[in-house]
Amino acid sequence: MTEASVKTIHVPLEGREYEVHVGPGLLGRSGALIAPLLRRPRVAVVTDDTVGALHLETLRLGLQAQGISMTALSLPPGEATKCWAQLERTTEWLLEAQVERGDIVVAFGGGVIGDLVGFAASILRRGVRFVQIPTSLLAQVDSSVGGKTGINSPQGKNLIGAFHQPSLVLADTNVLQTLEKRDFLAGYGEVVKYGLLGDAAFFDWLEDRAPDMAGGDEAARIHAVAHSVAMKSAIVARDETEQGDRALLNLGHTFCHALEAATGYSDRLLHGEGVAIGCALAFELSARLGLCAQETPSRVRAHLSDMKMKADLSDIAGDLSDAEALLTLMAQDKKVKDGKLRFILARGIGQAFITSDVPRQTVLEVLQDALARR
Ligand code: GLY
Repeated sequence: MTEASVKTIHVPLEGREYEVHVGPGLLGRSGALIAPLLRRPRVAVVTDDTVGALHLETLRLGLQAQGISMTALSLPPGEATKCWAQLERTTEWLLEAQVERGDIVVAFGGGVIGDLVGFAASILRRGVRFVQIPTSLLAQVDSSVGGKTGINSPQGKNLIGAFHQPSLVLADTNVLQTLEKRDFLAGYGEVVKYGLLGDAAFFDWLEDRAPDMAGGDEAARIHAVAHSVAMKSAIVARDETEQGDRALLNLGHTFCHALEAATGYSDRLLHGEGVAIGCALAFELSARLGLCAQETPSRVRAHLSDMKMKADLSDIAGDLSDAEALLTLMAQDKKVKDGKLRFILARGIGQAFITSDVPRQTVLEVLQDALARR
């Protein structure tokens, strides 16, 4: 594919606007794309051991092509890295690497690296600029765009952090080829979320083309990533700090966070898998409340099953808590406001909305019935 097949999405935040480039070969062109941001020809890159082993050399060559030197720190892969100890290690390393206020830090990895390094950049010297180079599908379509950064606490995920927008995002679709199938499909949970929350035509397109996309069709991948980013950009532009509409991006997440907690944040359930199941449950709840057609939840589940994804609680191996315990876990979600659970429900595919007006008993019944299907 040529440069012409790279799509660019503008994130129009006044004073903090930036571009997201989506397409093949962006690591090789990273020097040319990052150079306009630099005051001196050097960057500090933070990655993880898995991504570093596969792709750091390609990035180094891409930067070198424009005379930009690179110093790199590699962290252990996995969610446990989003912690105080690794944040301290990263910020100390950035200071030792003499990163100055005017320099650029590069977050090169999946959602864990993007969140941790973005947060480190937000507090280093009271804030330095950073570039996101997301390498997982989940990070390309969601976490690298919109400026949410942070780490986990023993109290819960993403509870410590800051809004800090990147200065540029390079989503190189070539790197998706090295993802394990399961990780790719987990990221797809976030892609399907966009169709379900706000774009029925995109969901139709996914029903038709997502199997090709999962099979490696490059044009389909570029379209799916770029369309997801464009939807996210529009929402973030309306509501950067999640006072309203941005919460739509949490479709499926209240159920998901309870399921992740119930499975011990282990590889029994990856985040994107939980999002997919959570979306199906959110449609189930919407149908139960008479908000959308009764057959819509089955359509959602049928698509997830076509994609060979987890679609229901029955697809989660091992023991799960009972419905009451899951509901208690849902109440710990940080989207709880004034003690009330906030849900993203839908009047149909592509028609999500935010509400706190959901009877506890109906949520309980949805969970009880889902557990009975196991
Ligand atoms: N991942 C949800 C958001 O960025 O708001």
